[in-house]
Amino acid sequence: MPEGDYAVELFRQQGFSRQTCTRCETPFWSLGTHETCGETPCQEYDFIGRSPFKKRLTYRAMREDFLSFLEANGHVRVRRYPIVARWREDVFFTQASVYPFQPWVISGQVPPPANPLAISQPCVRFNDMDNVGKTGQHFTMFEMMAHHAFNFPSKPVYFKDRTTELCHLFLTERLGLDPTAVRYKESWWQGGGNSGPCFEVVFGGAEAATLVFMENREVNGTRVPMDTKVVDTGYGLERLTWISQGTTSAYEAVFGDALAYLKRATGAKHVDDRVLTEYSKVAG
Ligand code: ALA
Repeated sequence: MPEGDYAVELFRQQGFSRQTCTRCETPFWSLGTHETCGETPCQEYDFIGRSPFKKRLTYRAMREDFLSFLEANGHVRVRRYPIVARWREDVFFTQASVYPFQPWVISGQVPPPANPLAISQPCVRFNDMDNVGKTGQHFTMFEMMAHHAFNFPSKPVYFKDRTTELCHLFLTERLGLDPTAVRYKESWWQGGGNSGPCFEVVFGGAEAATLVFMENREVNGTRVPMDTKVVDTGYGLERLTWISQGTTSAYEAVFGDALAYLKRATGAKHVDDRVLTEYSKVAG
């Protein structure tokens, strides 16, 4: 992948350098100097018990923080779409925030509900389900928070520079992350017949967001440049809530009240299989 695809204004202005992970050899950009790309398995989680954010946010507060930050930056908040992918013929369920806009909005046949827009979209990924309860970080469903911009040739909105800037501002100014901690890994994303270069936004051992710059569509197996380039971002609501709380598992951060109830109801100190068995008795 040519370096030019990933050379954005934020990196130039602030003096980010392009480095390579000594383990997986993925190139990434950062203000700090790092040996690895910052993501497991190249780096262990380092936020457990010490959140890198200045605020400890609940699930709801994190969602609100994200959406109101984008509203303050010129985005319109739109309501979530169904988890059934009603507008796509190739899938049954919504697996990313961009699915409700594929293919009709991206192709220009249907106008977007707002442009640029902010959303927190419930999603389901069946390949995650086998990991639920084992990894401490997978869920049967999750919310993908996002900002999307549709750059119709007659009225472009923003693309790589502003997308990266918004992400960096949200993480550092709004959540208080040390700017040198974040790494933007060079990668590629494809889905729903579209593709483009992306940044995986990583810190503390976890990928917290993906910033996709959709610029191609597949036509009979060939990549064709799109007239309308689309900003397709995805920020993990559960992941960010977990990082902000620094709890042992993501479940404590997201289901905190329910787990506190389980512990009270069963007299248990730790949540394990025994507690869940006891809970099923309490709950009938
Ligand atoms: N559509 C991108 C993803 O799913 C943001 O990661």
